[in-house]
Amino acid sequence: MTKTWFITGTSSGFGRLITEKLLVRGDIVAATLRKKDALDDLLRQYPQQLKTYALDVNNEAPTNDVTAQVIKDFGKIDVVIANAGYALSGAIEEATAEQISAQFQTNIMGSLFTIRAFLPHFRETGGGKILQLSSMGGHVAFAGMGYYQATKWAMECLIESLIAEVENFNIQACLIEPGAAETSFGNASMQHAKAMEEYENTPVGAMRERRKSGNMPRPNDPDKIAQAMIDCADSAQMPKRLALGTDAYDKIKAALLSRLEDLEKNKEVTLSVAK
Ligand SMILES: NC(=O)c1ccc[n+]([C@@H]2O[C@H](COP(=O)([O-])OP(=O)(O)OC[C@H]3O[C@@H](n4cnc5c(N)ncnc54)[C@H](OP(=O)(O)O)[C@@H]3O)[C@@H](O)[C@H]2O)c1
Repeated sequence: MTKTWFITGTSSGFGRLITEKLLVRGDIVAATLRKKDALDDLLRQYPQQLKTYALDVNNEAPTNDVTAQVIKDFGKIDVVIANAGYALSGAIEEATAEQISAQFQTNIMGSLFTIRAFLPHFRETGGGKILQLSSMGGHVAFAGMGYYQATKWAMECLIESLIAEVENFNIQACLIEPGAAETSFGNASMQHAKAMEEYENTPVGAMRERRKSGNMPRPNDPDKIAQAMIDCADSAQMPKRLALGTDAYDKIKAALLSRLEDLEKNKEVTLSVAK
């Protein structure tokens, strides 16, 4: 059955790939983007199935306005994908307050504005599905990626809470946790804090060197990730989390095991403070 999708950040990467795939199979897409011409080729090809809307997810009022317009244009929305996001790279000490705040605004507040805008619609129409782009970075913490990964950890918590809050309304949500894949994400979209030379011989400096020399492994296929997200939304019951990628599997597993190991290691002290 044909579905209607709302997707943020469709100018490139996963957002655009998902949009293309959905159009090919005959679905309807309300695609939001900042670069207003970025989907013009698809608009020409699929004028009956695609409508684009200018949206910077950083602001709540425009997000609510676009959501209201989309609902007016299409009636029922079946799936929302909170995909828009970017990464700020740099050590905790290096980033400016403005850079940190901008990172949190887009990846956390932007996703929340999008999802919250659709909750009344989903409640009133008997349900819906939400896919939130997290990352393997939603479980791990790398030197030099703390601010970006913190936004994904935040979304992991918020979506897990949301799942428990809205399941009675037949609303499902899933955290999509891709590993590294070649999109604009690690390239043009990435923001960089000003490097401090004091960090040159630390893991942060080493990461910068790897990035400069183009030696950042990206073992996953963005196209397959996009398809896996569609398949996930098509399933009757979405999982809470879906890790996508060889690195995602290895790194998330290692992070979970290490956290469990820490818990067990300190078990005696942990339990000793009981009244
Ligand atoms: N690729 C990876 O390795 C990877 C791995 C794990 C998770 N992710 C996550 O996947 C999602 C999509 O990233 P991608 O890999 O497809 O990268 P991408 O090609 O850079 O796409 C990101 C999209 O988000 C949009 N965007 C950024 N800030 C926005 C804002 N304030 N308002 C509206 N749109 C905004 C960008 O729009 P503009 O073109 O206007 O900048 C672009 O369309 C992100 O949430 C990212 O964190 C990516």
